Amino acid sequence: MSIGILTSGGDAPGMNAAIRAAFRSLKMRAPDCELMLFRDGFRGLARRLDSASDRNVDRKDVRDIIHRGGTFIGTGRVPELVLPPPDAPDLAARTAARESFLRVAAVNLFQHQVESLIVIGGDGSFCGAQVIAAAYRQTFPGRPFRVIGIPGTIDNDLHGTEYSIGYDTALNNVVDSLRKLRDTIESHRRAIILEVMGNTSGWLALQSAIAGGAAAVAIPEVEETWDQDDMVSRLVAGVRRDYRYFIIVVAEGVLKRAGADWSHALKRRIEEAQPIHDMLGYPMEVRINSVGHVARGGSPSALDNTLAGLLGSAAADIAQTGTIGRGEVVEGDVMVGCRGTRVITTPLDEVIANSPRLVTRDSELYQLSLKLMLSAGQPF
Ligand code: F6P
Repeated sequence: MSIGILTSGGDAPGMNAAIRAAFRSLKMRAPDCELMLFRDGFRGLARRLDSASDRNVDRKDVRDIIHRGGTFIGTGRVPELVLPPPDAPDLAARTAARESFLRVAAVNLFQHQVESLIVIGGDGSFCGAQVIAAAYRQTFPGRPFRVIGIPGTIDNDLHGTEYSIGYDTALNNVVDSLRKLRDTIESHRRAIILEVMGNTSGWLALQSAIAGGAAAVAIPEVEETWDQDDMVSRLVAGVRRDYRYFIIVVAEGVLKRAGADWSHALKRRIEEAQPIHDMLGYPMEVRINSVGHVARGGSPSALDNTLAGLLGSAAADIAQTGTIGRGEVVEGDVMVGCRGTRVITTPLDEVIANSPRLVTRDSELYQLSLKLMLSAGQPF
């Protein structure tokens, strides 16, 4: 039997440690078990395997990677795995490309007797894995094959886990940027609008704003947080209380929903706010910055590598023995996740159906942000 691993979608710090942990756990139990690494995400499954994969991975292949960011086997997004809409102008060509991709992937998996495919990524990657699994099962009915997902995304938006690999590092990267920005805006008595990645969810923006001591945060899930009138009146209240500077964090998802011009519109509103002008004697200058892909880079944090170790090892256990922990049986396609330091599993279709997991008004972090950030009627 052989076990395949690939990383897919946006890279996330800690993916390397997850591969290493899976390798070590597999080999510890069964030194002869073959591990294959597919390069560049699902693309590596559907190319000539000798150039797109590493077979018979051994110890030296996964040495010196635990401290490195990104994913050493490469990643990617594969448009062929996305079902084309029925009215797509190039429907025939896209359908043919998709069928050919799936056929090659299924045959490659069969030829190398891959019985478990470990996919490290987010919900888009798990959808892709399900499509490939369906194609495989249709082409080779009765052959054993399962998908085991490991959550790896800086967005932390997956159902079935409290944290995904990469989130903690990205959070620290964003907070680090916030601290650096704080130095310069304090010196100039300015406001900064910091745009933060996170796709459709606001977790990264929300938690970095809390941890970095921002004055305000705008997240896609709660529309009133994007209300610019309210934002300006909170800043007015802040200037009245002698705040020297303001950090406003805005999640990428807000820019997607409210328009890419949202930050520029807010900048104009703040710079033109007469009450601020009157109190300072001059307008408050605003700068816009963005922590884009920088948030995803750099060495993984200790927490991310620990989580990667736990989840990579659990995925290997399931692939090899069909069990985790003290022998609990795990069936079907699943994602491993964490609740505290405990590893849990969730059926992959349940993960996909409930992801992205979004911030809700009653979530603890959102409620905390209401208490800690600037408000117009703040009594102190
Ligand atoms: O999913 C991770 C993520 O970094 C999102 O926060 C962001 O929207 C997206 O990936 C960016 O994707 P790309 O790297 O393809 O530009």
